[in-house]
Amino acid sequence: MLSSNSRFEKYTIRTEQPCDFKAIENLTREAFWNVYRPGCTEHYVLHCYRESPDFVPELSLILEVEGEIVGHVMYAWSHIDADDGRKIKMMTFGPINIRPDFKRKGYGKILLDHSMELAKKMEGGCLLIVGNIDFYGKSSFVSALTKGIRYADDPEATYFLCKELDDGFLDGITGSYHDPEGYFVADQNPEAFDRFDAEFPPKEKLKLPGQLF
Ligand SMILES: CC(C)(COP(=O)(O)OP(=O)(O)OC[C@H]1O[C@@H](n2cnc3c(N)ncnc32)[C@H](O)[C@@H]1OP(=O)(O)O)[C@@H](O)C(=O)NCCC(=O)NCCS
Repeated sequence: MLSSNSRFEKYTIRTEQPCDFKAIENLTREAFWNVYRPGCTEHYVLHCYRESPDFVPELSLILEVEGEIVGHVMYAWSHIDADDGRKIKMMTFGPINIRPDFKRKGYGKILLDHSMELAKKMEGGCLLIVGNIDFYGKSSFVSALTKGIRYADDPEATYFLCKELDDGFLDGITGSYHDPEGYFVADQNPEAFDRFDAEFPPKEKLKLPGQLF
């Protein structure tokens, strides 16, 4: 557990417990709702990932301020398909989210940076994600292309980002990366997703400018 003071309030970071699951899923839903698509599916991704052998329970972390859960991140083991035929074990992460009314106070970066220190200790190797360089760049992520790793769905993608947890982890490695199957669970099972989402308070799905899907 990490306890400290940010610019504004005292915060604590700890691993999630079963009694936190529903609150975290609701937080994830609140944070992602209508951001990348009408509604969101990230809370279901998290829910299902907990059953996966690739899920990293030690890195399913909650950030609390004054005893209230205001942030969460999860990690999963994944791999790079190296051009020389090897499978390089490494980690990815997400969803990561901060409660909407606590955004832009520095908590997202605090949670990410702390989780990456723990991931390094667990020999996560490197992290690969699709994300916004404006946020991840502050934590030293770079375009994965500069490290020789291509996003399988879009090999020229500059929004596909990398962070070596151990300097030089990717030296001598080129290859491509597929998002793990666990991130597509809502598309693969839309009826189960709809049943799951109906357990949460009703929210309006809106088509908004800037959404990706
Ligand atoms: C992305 C998210 C986790 C960031 O958390 P946060 O606590 O708001 O971010 P921080 O305050 O730690 O931001 C640190 C720096 O990152 C950059 N940053 C953060 N969010 C940004 C945004 N939306 N656009 C541009 N830059 C951003 C800024 O430089 C910021 O520093 P500043 O506020 O001093 O300018 C949060 O906005 C969130 O939950 N979003 C919805 C879910 C989501 O999109 N998750 C990420 C999916 S890849």
